[in-house]
Amino acid sequence: MTLSLDKSEILQKIDNTSNLSELEDIRLFFLGKKGLITSEMKSLSSLDIEQKKQKGQQLNVLKNFIENELIKKKNYLDTVLVNEKIKKEKIDVTLSPRNYEIGKIHPISQSIYKVIDIFANMGFSVESGPDIESDFNNFTALNIPSHHPAREMQDTFYIQDSSNEEKVLRTHTSPVQVRTMLRTKPPIRIIVPGRTYRSDSDSTHTPMFHQVEGLLIDENSTMAHLKGCLVDFLKEFFEIDELKYRFRPSYFPFTEPSAEMDVAFTKKNNALKIGEGKDWLEILGCGMVNPKVLENCKIDPSKYQGFAFGMGIERLSMLKYGITDMRGFFESDFKWLDHYGFSPLDLTSFSGI
Ligand code: DAH
Repeated sequence: MTLSLDKSEILQKIDNTSNLSELEDIRLFFLGKKGLITSEMKSLSSLDIEQKKQKGQQLNVLKNFIENELIKKKNYLDTVLVNEKIKKEKIDVTLSPRNYEIGKIHPISQSIYKVIDIFANMGFSVESGPDIESDFNNFTALNIPSHHPAREMQDTFYIQDSSNEEKVLRTHTSPVQVRTMLRTKPPIRIIVPGRTYRSDSDSTHTPMFHQVEGLLIDENSTMAHLKGCLVDFLKEFFEIDELKYRFRPSYFPFTEPSAEMDVAFTKKNNALKIGEGKDWLEILGCGMVNPKVLENCKIDPSKYQGFAFGMGIERLSMLKYGITDMRGFFESDFKWLDHYGFSPLDLTSFSGI
């Protein structure tokens, strides 16, 4: 850089800079340690007093002038740079929105939402419990003591935790009945959708599956209430007004009396029609809560009574949505999900909407 100490020449040079590094070069040229003004200042010592005073003053005025002009230009360049950055980082709000149709709700989730929706309208609230359960909650409290033959009905996954206490992967959602009764006082009206596990695997069984449990405890509920509640539920779930059904006597250690509920069906061109016909499909197990279970859960059976039920969500979903192979639920096949899944924004199948 060759520059004189002429003000207008300096000003022009500063004006012509287009970035901060050029500006810094100019500053160093005049004001740096070895800069022009700095060395002129140093050379003052060889002059006589009068000249020193005069030249020194001129140099100071020039130095202030250059400093001011550099600051002005720096401020200007800073603003230009910030504006350019803002311009580059601008969000283009005209981009087309993401396609929400890509994600689908799994039919099991859809069924659970629907079950919750129907029972919530009847005054039931939703409870949950852990997948890893104590032997007491899963069996003993439900009137299934160890060595009871009923334990053989369910192929249990036993696990040992760090406390060496024997734990199980819950074989049904019924232990949440126990948890709720031990924690709260009647009246109780709950449903429990959740995952359950059994060591069983073939075309109609998977080691993990879903159930929904129901429990109602108060002072005077009867088998008639249980029946009305379940019939209303199934009619709404399958969206049919006329439902042909039957209750068959059965056995569960935690209910007395116990029953299983079947609904009629017909098979036409490989498609199932629920609610009418000559054949029967088992849908759920139910009964009046065994007084022994109430006692185990610190509820006075001379004052309180109630009913319970349990059903498989895979089975309900297969019947409602015409799914024939149970394994599809757990294969995470995108094409399967695209076909059987539900739009996350489609709430029309829920009551009240
Ligand atoms: N826990 C039973 C099972 O897994 C289902 C069941 C039957 C639950 C009757 C109940 C009930 O609450 O009353 O097979």
